Amino acid sequence: MAVEGKPGADVKGFRSMGNGDDMTDHSHRGVRGSAVWDQVGSILAGRTAALGKTGLDVIDVGGGSGIFAVPLAADGHRVTVVDPSPNALATLRQRASEAGVTDMISAVQGDAAGLGSLVGKESADLVLCHGVLEVVDEPSSALNGIASCLRADALVSIVTAQRNAAVMGKAVAGHLLEARRLLEDPDGRWGASDPLPRRFREPELRSVLADAGFEVEEVHGVRIFTDLVPGPLVDEPADVRALAALEAAAEAVPEMRALAAVLHVIASRR
Ligand SMILES: C[S@@+](CC[C@H](N)C(=O)[O-])C[C@H]1O[C@@H](n2cnc3c(N)ncnc32)[C@H](O)[C@@H]1O
Repeated sequence: MAVEGKPGADVKGFRSMGNGDDMTDHSHRGVRGSAVWDQVGSILAGRTAALGKTGLDVIDVGGGSGIFAVPLAADGHRVTVVDPSPNALATLRQRASEAGVTDMISAVQGDAAGLGSLVGKESADLVLCHGVLEVVDEPSSALNGIASCLRADALVSIVTAQRNAAVMGKAVAGHLLEARRLLEDPDGRWGASDPLPRRFREPELRSVLADAGFEVEEVHGVRIFTDLVPGPLVDEPADVRALAALEAAAEAVPEMRALAAVLHVIASRR
């Protein structure tokens, strides 16, 4: 695996996120089997068939410790992870080595805004940008960086924390002042110690994507109920299956996705 950038170096714009702030939270089942994984898998299958390739060139911006990159590499895709965190890249190296996919993964220390120069313009069939737009300094700069490295007909998969779900979460936990702040704050934050710089609603996300020259192909709401149902109520396998079935059924109702913890958008360059 190629590793570029200085270990330990500080990269402008980097915000380290604690585990509890990982809005993508691919659940205890791991990334395989999660709704986001299923959607990414279906994009990969479609692009692989359309391009007649066995493996695609995937860039995972903010790919951190390789939660997506390693299984994608194991499936035969060439994955470049671009992330400012040296610690995350060290974990990625370790995971890649344990999975025997070192040759299929490159790790590049850097910022989403600089993607074009870091990985090369028009070098990707698919870019993953999961849990990143809510933490970067400027979402528009990150999206411009992503746009520059997409090939014609390439897609970007964007996963981002949704504000409405955070409001509901705070309210049902009894943190009513924070819920109100989240509801009304221009950036969707619950206070000065909120670790996230912003949270999106779907119209805001669509607007920032349109401004950066993207066309939205699909929007999915992920985890509409999962974060609200107390864990002890879903400790039996049958409960877990029922919750997954409920999530899948609700995802098909467009109005329900306004409550999803996470929005998953598939977009292309116009
Ligand atoms: C919440 S984690 C998401 C990790 C992974 N994509 C996932 O879905 O599990 C956010 C990641 O974005 C990275 N990050 C923070 N600022 C960034 C920037 N300016 N450009 C690219 N990645 C950034 C962090 O280092 C971290 O790995």
